[in-house]
Amino acid sequence: MCGIVGAVAQRNILPDLVDGLKRLEYRGYDSCGVAVYQDRRLVRARSVDRVANLRDEIAKHALSGYTGIAHTRWATHGKPVTTNAHPHFSPDADSPRIALSHNGIIENSDELRAMLQEHGYVFSSQTDSEAIAHLIDYLYNGDLFDAVQQAVKKLRGSYAIAVLCRDEPHRLVGARDGMPLVVGVGEGENFLASDAIALASVTDRIAYLENGDVADIQLHRHWVVDSNGQRVERQVHTVAAHSGAADLGLYRYYMQKEIFEQPRAVADTLQDVTSIMPELFGDDAWRVFNSVDSVLLLACGGSFHAALTAKYWIESLAQLPVNVEIASEYRYRESVANPNTLVVAVSQSGETADVLGAVQVAKQQQMLKTLAICNVPSSALIRECQLNFITRAGIEIGVASTKAFTTQLVALFLLALTLAQVRSRLSDADEQMHLRALRHLPDAMSRVLALEPQIMAWSELLTRKDNILFLGRGMHYPVALEGALKMKEISYIHAEAYAAGELKHGPLALISDQMPVVAVAPNDRLLEKLKSNMHEVSARSGKLFVFADIDCGIAPSADMEVIRLTEYYGLLSPILHTIPMQLLAFHAALARGTDIDKPRNLAKSVTVE
Ligand code: F6R
Repeated sequence: MCGIVGAVAQRNILPDLVDGLKRLEYRGYDSCGVAVYQDRRLVRARSVDRVANLRDEIAKHALSGYTGIAHTRWATHGKPVTTNAHPHFSPDADSPRIALSHNGIIENSDELRAMLQEHGYVFSSQTDSEAIAHLIDYLYNGDLFDAVQQAVKKLRGSYAIAVLCRDEPHRLVGARDGMPLVVGVGEGENFLASDAIALASVTDRIAYLENGDVADIQLHRHWVVDSNGQRVERQVHTVAAHSGAADLGLYRYYMQKEIFEQPRAVADTLQDVTSIMPELFGDDAWRVFNSVDSVLLLACGGSFHAALTAKYWIESLAQLPVNVEIASEYRYRESVANPNTLVVAVSQSGETADVLGAVQVAKQQQMLKTLAICNVPSSALIRECQLNFITRAGIEIGVASTKAFTTQLVALFLLALTLAQVRSRLSDADEQMHLRALRHLPDAMSRVLALEPQIMAWSELLTRKDNILFLGRGMHYPVALEGALKMKEISYIHAEAYAAGELKHGPLALISDQMPVVAVAPNDRLLEKLKSNMHEVSARSGKLFVFADIDCGIAPSADMEVIRLTEYYGLLSPILHTIPMQLLAFHAALARGTDIDKPRNLAKSVTVE
């Protein structure tokens, strides 16, 4: 999605602005731009290409400046063309006074546009954002901070903005509501960004702005006022070593790096887990967990698949009824509210608009017992929910989620065990058994990662196919769903997943020698049922690619390839079986030469509906 970087400094800040955009590139965008104060004017360069191309534009126009703002855009209002790229200027491109970058969606932009046009403003883009630039110019009376404070009161929708004014060249003003914005604190220079990672090369001292805040950023100081216009302190945190996290190291792709980081990510997520106890989810968790009679899981995309897996765990371990809902569906349907439901929102980013919207709907219906499972401690979702569990995957840059997904599964398994314990359904012996299994999980994951060469060989066979079917049963059905999602997302091969028992109710019609079928075949109590489903495929000339556990009695044959995982991992088996799905999709995409870390049309953090 869109990204913002801004700086007030005493040196040419352009290289750092562009570096910031590079660090935000992973979030997905379709155009980018930068504006600086240079020779008493505001000047800009914009591109509908990669950030590297923007560098060429900057060089071509010999841009440099001490104060500037930059932006990556993911189109919502208007196509990804140069005129729609940010920063936007006002009153016009020839003699601009205001430059603005905006993330979010302004719902009343048509009204504002009409009002500003009546006052003579000419719009040069189709964006909602340009209206904010003109609005600030219209309200400007010699004080940018004052103009922004007035302007944001007239906006409906969501925004994070960074604004620069020709007449106050050593000042930036930022404001946010519904979209993230941080202040980066430097020595004799200060910054704004939509994500702390963008500032990794310039400062590790970060203050997170709250909804309604307006921030005044100058060379030697910054201050913040809240939505009531009151001066407030936003604590400055030191963000640990975030610059290294964005480096590729020896890997060619972030997704590849992140797949191989999973044993470490899981170990870090389990770092403070010495026993099963409600406090893992927050101080008040025992009281909340003890008072619930059901669970509602809300999520989107891959996180929804993690939530689906949790349904199997929570219902079997804690004997609590669980509903899992796609957040974008839940928020707009009439559901039956139960105030005694534990509402669990699962989200890597914690900024997914549909997940935030769904939690807000649940709360409006008096379902106030909310828990966020999230990878970003500073995210809106953490603030929105009463309880939380932070997964420690570390920053995930590849658009296709990998380590965030497996750490979500770990968090959800801990939740299932905790709910079981609160409901007196977890004996001490079982607790110790599950903790042992969790502790050995990183080792077990490393053994699965070692299967990469075999999986690579399969991906060469699959890469020439147009369609792939994924099958799984029970708690491995969500694993099949995740495998199909990963495959289509990054390789662009059409892939669908079915609960294997459903095959005969329709999808069997698709089976032919042209339809490869990937089956997730753990050595569990559903294995014999799955084998019958696999026979249904073989009997119709379908070619099977089976990920089986050792000792499962599935042997390779002319119509069946088999890769064996080294052990059956009981209830945690979905975590191990996810890894081959990720590697298969990654190598299929690699063979097809797609842009693996930034698949077409997708963004890392989906902050729009
Ligand atoms: C899939 C993927 C997406 C996200 C989805 C939700 O690989 O990454 O489907 O899972 O956009 O995002 P979060 O978890 O940030 O709410």
